[in-house]
Order: sequence, then C-alpha cells, then structure tokens
Amino acid sequence: MVRTLFIEGTYFAAAVLFILGLQSLTRTEGAQRGMQQAMVGMLLAVVGTLVNHGIVDYRWIAVGLVLGTVLGYPLGMLAPMTAMPQAIAASHMFGAIAATLVGVAEYYNARGAVGSATMTALGFETMLGALTVTGSFMAFGKLQGVVIDRPLTFRGQNAVNLGMFGAMVAIFIYLIASPVHPALFYTMLGLGLLIGVTMVLPIGGADMPVVISLLNSYAGLASAATGFAIGNNVLIIAGALDGASGFLLSILMSKAMNRSFANVLFGAFGTAPTGAAKTAVGLTVRSISPEDAAMQLAYAGEVIIIPGYGMAVAQSQHQVRELAEQIEKRGGTVKYAIHPVAGRMPGHMNVLLAEANVPYDRLYDMEEINAEFDHADVALVIGANDVVNPAARTDQGSPIYGMPILNADHAKSVIVLKRSMNPGFAGIENELFYAPKTSMLFGDAKSSLTKLVSEVKTV
Ligand code: TAP
Repeated sequence: MVRTLFIEGTYFAAAVLFILGLQSLTRTEGAQRGMQQAMVGMLLAVVGTLVNHGIVDYRWIAVGLVLGTVLGYPLGMLAPMTAMPQAIAASHMFGAIAATLVGVAEYYNARGAVGSATMTALGFETMLGALTVTGSFMAFGKLQGVVIDRPLTFRGQNAVNLGMFGAMVAIFIYLIASPVHPALFYTMLGLGLLIGVTMVLPIGGADMPVVISLLNSYAGLASAATGFAIGNNVLIIAGALDGASGFLLSILMSKAMNRSFANVLFGAFGTAPTGAAKTAVGLTVRSISPEDAAMQLAYAGEVIIIPGYGMAVAQSQHQVRELAEQIEKRGGTVKYAIHPVAGRMPGHMNVLLAEANVPYDRLYDMEEINAEFDHADVALVIGANDVVNPAARTDQGSPIYGMPILNADHAKSVIVLKRSMNPGFAGIENELFYAPKTSMLFGDAKSSLTKLVSEVKTV
C-alpha cells in the first residue's frame, strides 16, 4: 500500500513537472528551467519505477544504467550544436528500441494469449516503435552522412509504401481479433522496421528535422501504448505529451517553411533547385573589405543582425555578441531578427545566442521586427540565406515561394557575411546578394566577425 502510494506520488509529481517543463520551454528565458523541470520529473519517474514490485531482478537494470550512461553522456555532452538534429534522432531511436522490445517481450511472455485491449496497445507499441527505430536510424544516417542524404526515389514508391503500411495495419486488426498468431505478430514487426527505412528514403537530408520531429511523435505514441500495455500511468502521460508536442512541432516547422506535411514526406525536397527558379546570370556582386564594413557599422544608428545556419556552422555567436557590444558602445542600437526556421532546428538561433549571453530582450521574432527594417541603417546577415531571400515573395517558380521571410532588403543597406556565393538549404540563388544596396563580406563567419570587432574598435 505504502509502496503503491509512493509510486503513484512520484508519477504524479513527474507528470506535473513534465507539463511545467513544456510550458517553460515556450519562452527563451524559461528554456533552461524547463529542461531542469523535465529532468527532475524524469528522475522521479525512474525512482518510482525502480521500487515497482514487478521488478524481479535488478542486475539487468544495472547493466542498462551503465549502458545508458556510456551512450547518453557523450551524446549529450560531446555532440556539437550543429549535430543536435542527428543526436536527437539517435536518442529517439533508443527510446523506440525500448518501446518495441517491451511490446515484443509482453507478447512473447504471454505466448500471444492476451486480450483484445492489450493486443491493441501492444500492436500500436510494436508497429510505431519499430518504424521509429529504423526511421530514426535513417534520419541519423542521412544527417551524419553515413547514408546517402539525397532523396532516393523510384517509380511507384508511394504505392509500395502504402501497400506495406496497409498490410501491416491489416495484420494488426486481425491480431486484435485473434492474437495467438506469433508468425503474424513478427511479420507486423518486420513490416514496421521495413517501413521506417522506405518511408525516409525519399526524403532529402535537409528535411530531416521535420521528419525527426514527426518520428518523435510516433515514439511518444509508442510509449503511451506501452503505458497502456503494462499499466504504467507515467508512460501514458509522458508518451501522450511527447506525441502531441512532436506532432505540433512538425506542423509548425512545415508551416514556417511554407510546406505541407505531404510535401515534406513525399516531395523529395531539399536537393536540386527547380528548373523554373531564377538564376544569377548577368548579375554582379559587390564585395566589401572588413575595414569598410566596420566603418559602416560603427557609424550606423540602428543595426539589425540576422543570424542563420552559417553562424551555427562557424560557432560565431560569441563574436556576434562582441560586435554588437562594440556597435552599442559607439551609440548604435542592435537588435536580432530571428526567423522561425533559421538554422536547422527549432530555436537553433535562440539557443546559440543565449549561450553567448546575448540579452533575451534583444531577440525579436519575425512578425515583431519585420516593420523595423524600413528604418534600419544596416541589416547584417550572418550565415543566413533562404530566410532573407526575396524570391519567397516574388518568384512563383522558387521552391521557397510563399515562405515568410525577414525584410532585410528593406533596410537602407545590407552586409552579408558568408564564405562564397553558394546557396543555402533550398539550393537556390538569392537576389538579395546582387542588390545594389548589398555588400558581401566573404569568409568564414567567425574570422570575419573577429576582424570586424577589432576594426570597429579602431574606427
Ligand atoms: P541557409 O539558407 O541554409 O543558408 C546558410 C548559409 O550559411 C549558406 O548559404 C552558407 O553559404 C552559409 N555558411 C555556411 N557555413 C558558413 C560559415 N562557416 N561562415 C559563414 N557562412 C556560412 O540558412 P538559413 O537562412 O538559416 O535558412 C535555414 C533553412 O533551413 C531554411 O530554408 C529552412 O526552411 C531550412 N530548415 C530549417 C529548419 C529549422 S527548424 N530551423 C528545419 C529544416 C529545414 P556559404 O557556403 O557560401 O558560406
């Protein structure tokens, strides 16, 4: 009785902390606290589970603890910020392996002799878990470059995928009515593993963050189903929260890229530019020296910094802050314009700038800052490309047509820091770089910013 009360008490506290954690994560300044709340919640859930009378042997749990620490610590501590999407894909894969193994173990131990309700939960857990395991592995592989990251397509691919999915669901429904068919159960498991691979094959590496977030929601649902199967409340709550937030995040990411879910999942996007998109033939580029760029920044009244994926690659967020401080010392104001899909994962820029101690109140969302570009002296674009591409407004042939962008081109002048004229994620030309008011400062963002900081000091 006391033990049950203790377990349910820890589970309840864990569930409350998970919800509070999610709520804190909705604001940049609350993000760290949100992670801490979720961590304490998870610790309580683990402690509650460890005293469960259903545990007959602690040795395997000790093995799991060692293995989990050996894998999890380097994953969290050593993975660089730019590798976060694949680190997250790897951690989803491990979560899904756990859910799938529990489903298989429950079915195996009962020799399939389970009721329809339990079979429904076990089926969801095994199907969703299995396709999340291989899907996440593929997503990890594409992002890490160990699996070809371009979309792999073949004729009739969607029909084949839908056929396999239909077969898996049909087996699942049959098993609910008649669970004692181990061969069918393991076929369903095999189909789930196969679908995870074939589902991710036609999606380009660059779309993986959306896929990862979607797989996150599957892993969450698989965990919730595990909770139903083994009668564990905290798994049901945590799984439902995980599933719902992953799904909402995928929708938000697709919306911010002006893409539909269907387009992400079946569109084979993120590789070659479309034939109709504009090219730069006949356009000229004006490059600028760090000295001249520093002069312009030092005398500017209002500067809006637009960070992008290149800032993350160069890890130049500290130099960005130093430059802003120098401009402010000379009487200018500096604001940061944050596009919802700048970088490669939600909140990518916020996290990096927070790490460099940029004050939260200097960060502005796109809707808040876009009107301000009209009176900004300089829009300073640091390793961003697609999020400032005017083609999104004007070029119907562009793959980013319709995506809301930051109005950098409305500023009096624009300075762009990047290494070359290479395109960004969408693989297309950016007319902003050829505009008469734009100057290109070529080089790695970190070294260019370091030079700029020392030059502004001497102006
Ligand atoms: P991108 O359009 O990808 O452009 C990044 C630019 O950074 C590149 O053109 C590159 O040019 C430059 N760069 C790379 N390394 C650099 C370095 N070391 N120093 C200086 N510059 C460097 O980035 P963005 O504007 O942030 O847009 C993000 C894109 O990713 C959007 O299309 C978005 O839809 C997509 N996306 C975002 C997310 C999320 S959730 N954020 C998820 C999936 C997809 P050089 O090679 O010439 O230097």
